[in-house]
Amino acid sequence: MLIRIVFLLTLAACLPQAPAAAQEKQPGDDRQMAFFIDSLMSRMTLDEKIGQLNLLTSDMDVTGPSMRKNYAEDIRKGRVGAIFNAYTPEYVKQLQDMAVKQTRLHIPLLFGYDVIHGHKTIFPVPLGMAASWDTAAVEKAARIAAEEASADGINWVYSPMVDIARDPRWGRVMEGAGEDPRLGSLMARAYVKGYQGNDLSASHTVLACVKHFALYGAAEGGRDYNTVDMSRRRMFETYLPPYKAALDAGAGSVMTSFNEVNGIPATGNRWLLKDLLRRQWGFSGLVVTDYTAIPEMISHGVGRNTSEVGTQALQAGVDMDMQGEVYVTQLKSLLQEGKISRQDIDTAVRHVLEAKYRLGLFSDPYRYVHENPDKVIMSPDKLAFAREMARKSMVLLKNAGQLLPLKKSGSIALIGPLADDRRDLIGAWSAAGDWHRAVSLLSGVKAAVEGRAKVYYAKGANLVDDTALLRKLNAAGADITVDAKSPEQLIREAVATAERADVVVMALGESAAMTGEAASRSDIGLTPNQQELLSAVYATGKPVVLVLMNGRPLTLPWEDAHIPAILESWFGGTEAGAAIADVLFGAYNPSGKLTISFPVSVGQIPVYYSHKSTGRPADPGNKYTSKYLDIPNEPLYPFGYGLSYTHFSYGDIVLSTRKLRRGEILRMAVTVTNDGHYDGTETAQLYLRDRVASVTRPVKELKDYRQVFLKQGESKRLTFTLTPEDLKFYNRDMQWVTEPGDFEIFIGGNSRDLQRAAFTLTE
Ligand code: BGC
Repeated sequence: MLIRIVFLLTLAACLPQAPAAAQEKQPGDDRQMAFFIDSLMSRMTLDEKIGQLNLLTSDMDVTGPSMRKNYAEDIRKGRVGAIFNAYTPEYVKQLQDMAVKQTRLHIPLLFGYDVIHGHKTIFPVPLGMAASWDTAAVEKAARIAAEEASADGINWVYSPMVDIARDPRWGRVMEGAGEDPRLGSLMARAYVKGYQGNDLSASHTVLACVKHFALYGAAEGGRDYNTVDMSRRRMFETYLPPYKAALDAGAGSVMTSFNEVNGIPATGNRWLLKDLLRRQWGFSGLVVTDYTAIPEMISHGVGRNTSEVGTQALQAGVDMDMQGEVYVTQLKSLLQEGKISRQDIDTAVRHVLEAKYRLGLFSDPYRYVHENPDKVIMSPDKLAFAREMARKSMVLLKNAGQLLPLKKSGSIALIGPLADDRRDLIGAWSAAGDWHRAVSLLSGVKAAVEGRAKVYYAKGANLVDDTALLRKLNAAGADITVDAKSPEQLIREAVATAERADVVVMALGESAAMTGEAASRSDIGLTPNQQELLSAVYATGKPVVLVLMNGRPLTLPWEDAHIPAILESWFGGTEAGAAIADVLFGAYNPSGKLTISFPVSVGQIPVYYSHKSTGRPADPGNKYTSKYLDIPNEPLYPFGYGLSYTHFSYGDIVLSTRKLRRGEILRMAVTVTNDGHYDGTETAQLYLRDRVASVTRPVKELKDYRQVFLKQGESKRLTFTLTPEDLKFYNRDMQWVTEPGDFEIFIGGNSRDLQRAAFTLTE
């Protein structure tokens, strides 16, 4: 309290022209904010202004290639506007004290962190959460993350990551919502609402940062940081909508991406940041770079030195330099040389100060360090929700002969390198998450059977045997251990364990370190040693349930052809093991649906449901059509796909009209029936195809969906509407229009198996 009073008094003394009330102003009061910031900026020296544009990492966590040791000294000297990778109230307070008590103008710091799928209570990786298709649940997960992060001193999260990704080789597909712009937009919005709530200055909300702007998910070959070259049409139709949706939901900051966009690095791309983001979309918040993205423009080859690339970044509209130390070292001389203007600097400074103002930091710089985090973090209600979120995220890929759910009787062999793992369950980018608190599958299964079934365990294989890969992963902190027993012995033990049991549950997949940043893979199958283990156990003839733990689509043709039951559990977070057990034994009937296609083979990539028709659509009877000689065109498991323990059937689509006039709303209804033997939740998906237009259109596009819980035998009539806006697209002149013509509607439980209806749009 004393500190707060001292701060306010000091600040008031510094800002005689700012009315006392200005320090207690409410967010959203833009005039008061402008008045306050004008007053503050009129007192700032050039050095102090430039300091505000500098974002440095602390040494508490490492998320990039470089680090500056004496960041504390920089803070004291007013050379830093924000810190990331620092948390806990004690540490944040210590650093905030330096800024607030030891600098001339006492301007508080922002504290950023990569809170991607939870802070301490870890939820499934975002690709998994998206598979819930449950935006309310995702918003709640983000809200919990905000509560924990803010109690831990953080006021700015580097999330949501909304990059559309259609290349599962790219390790960062796990951070986003998958391949579809519509679903991606809904998820983007849910995260922003969850983080920011309605009042950014409330102590349990945090500033969201939409990333990575832009098109990072389209890196060539799925290789991280690689070149992006894309038509404007594809950008606007597919890749840009989720960023826009996050901004429309109020996201207060944007992070630039590492990649170039059509020849110009995103971080120096004036078209992207000024013309599109600021002018066209009206964004008025803070633009920060990704980690050292400004100096990296030298390697991109658009500047010889930091002063050249610094000029480009500032003039393109970048406000804050993350860890690049280009602004802090170059802007002053660039201004003196007349290469940049005072206005360029002032605009950037204003954006930084406005973010601080909106967070309420000028009223109380210690807003985020008051709470006792122990009361907030990992409380039982949060863990219970993490378990629920994990259950909702799982996707049942196959369940031949209704092998699942399992009975809690007889004997179960739990086999695989991930069966008793906790380290990997919380996934990549698990922030401050503590894997020691994660529930392994083995303990989840043991707790679930409550002694009613025998549970045997065998590791069976190492997660990775390939020594070169192991070396790389462990150098990056993966902690993958190699068993003292030989691979042959591990397999022998696994086979013997399987033979003793009535049913086998295999836990296979990736190490968390095989996903996330700088973790691209060219082969996205199970590692060869895990495949060997699986086929050896399969050869015992025991019924096998394969539980996958991974952060990207995997290629699973052999598994799909041989293994009767396959459950995709992603990296399920802190409560993963308990949640998987809930699903395995039927306490929860799986309801997740894929939001990214699982290819048959890497050779199909990119494979996505909303592709175009070609002039020669695939026809098996005609050689000269668009197809492969050796594999099908279709993915193994399509977008929107996911089974349930029950079965849902769809009636015919009933349309309000078959001739829709321009400007009218189309109403549709379909009856969904649970005609299986369990209660369950279905996600009914609505797709649209524009049959003929002035430009080619996708064979289908997700427009809407409904989630419905149906008891056994129950039917419900679901209704949908399509507005004129839903029929719009970018025409030949890139205008957003509707065109009269023939359309098809599809409704069903995935993007492949659908009911169909047609209508015509007339003038
Ligand atoms: C990542 C960002 C992240 C940043 C800060 C970068 O390497 O690309 O997603 O927010 O580091 O940790």
